[in-house]
Amino acid sequence: MSDIVMVTGCGRNYALGYNIALRYLEAGDTVIATIRKPSPDIDALKEKFGDKLIVAMFDLLDTASVKEAAAKVADQVDHIDILINNAVGVAPDVDKGFFDADLDNIPRTLDIISVGALRVIKAFYSLLHSAPGTALIMNISSEAGSIEKCYRTTGMDYGMGKAALNMATMYLYNTFKDEKKINIFTVHPGWIRTNGKEDNPAPLSSYEAAGILKDLFAKRREDFTGHRFITNEGIDYPF
Ligand SMILES: NC(=O)c1ccc[n+]([C@@H]2O[C@H](COP(=O)([O-])OP(=O)(O)OC[C@H]3O[C@@H](n4cnc5c(N)ncnc54)[C@H](OP(=O)(O)O)[C@@H]3O)[C@@H](O)[C@H]2O)c1
Repeated sequence: MSDIVMVTGCGRNYALGYNIALRYLEAGDTVIATIRKPSPDIDALKEKFGDKLIVAMFDLLDTASVKEAAAKVADQVDHIDILINNAVGVAPDVDKGFFDADLDNIPRTLDIISVGALRVIKAFYSLLHSAPGTALIMNISSEAGSIEKCYRTTGMDYGMGKAALNMATMYLYNTFKDEKKINIFTVHPGWIRTNGKEDNPAPLSSYEAAGILKDLFAKRREDFTGHRFITNEGIDYPF
């Protein structure tokens, strides 16, 4: 049976969100691809897949724009089966350590990564709740969001944002679990060449990573009891 799948942050054809959207489109699913600004890459995908691809535009920092997009999407679909919160934004000095980074950049990253995902889930909740089967929310996190495994000294805004996303996932798991209508995980998607550059040493292309994640999401959709923070290989990862 085909699904209606929503993926945030799909504007770049070399990055992960676009390739997750592409994988579901290739499988015959309907995809709601969200972008922050007009994207020629998404325009080209729309030309290829037509009505199977619904494009929604919003800024994760702007609750009103997320709600407005949800209302427009609700005119086109009556439910969403899978929501993948993939979009990310980091501070311009993400590569700097504590003494050199501008700490005032951190709240914006936290806002995009963790509060942004919550804004999307809240605005699209009724569509998720209307899914005929179990709806699934997959928050794309990172091993960088693990407090227990933290070894880094740079990219504190990113690590804090993903740790907050992981915590938000647990809050929503607790909120949704008794009804067993909406399932939720937070996922480290693997080490991926999401910048599309050939000299990137990461082992997975975005397209390869997207295929692995799609299979994982299908396997874990009905799993309401396992650990909530998992890797792309389906292995439990410490919070
Ligand atoms: N690459 C890896 O090895 C790796 C490892 C662990 C986790 N991840 C995670 O995998 C996911 C995908 O990574 P990626 O490198 O493919 O992502 P990306 O291309 O850097 O970002 C995805 C999209 O997020 C959008 N975005 C940024 N700020 C936004 C905002 N305020 N509102 C709406 N959209 C916004 C961007 O839109 P614009 O195009 O308009 O800028 C961008 O297209 C991320 O969650 C990342 O943390 C990646």
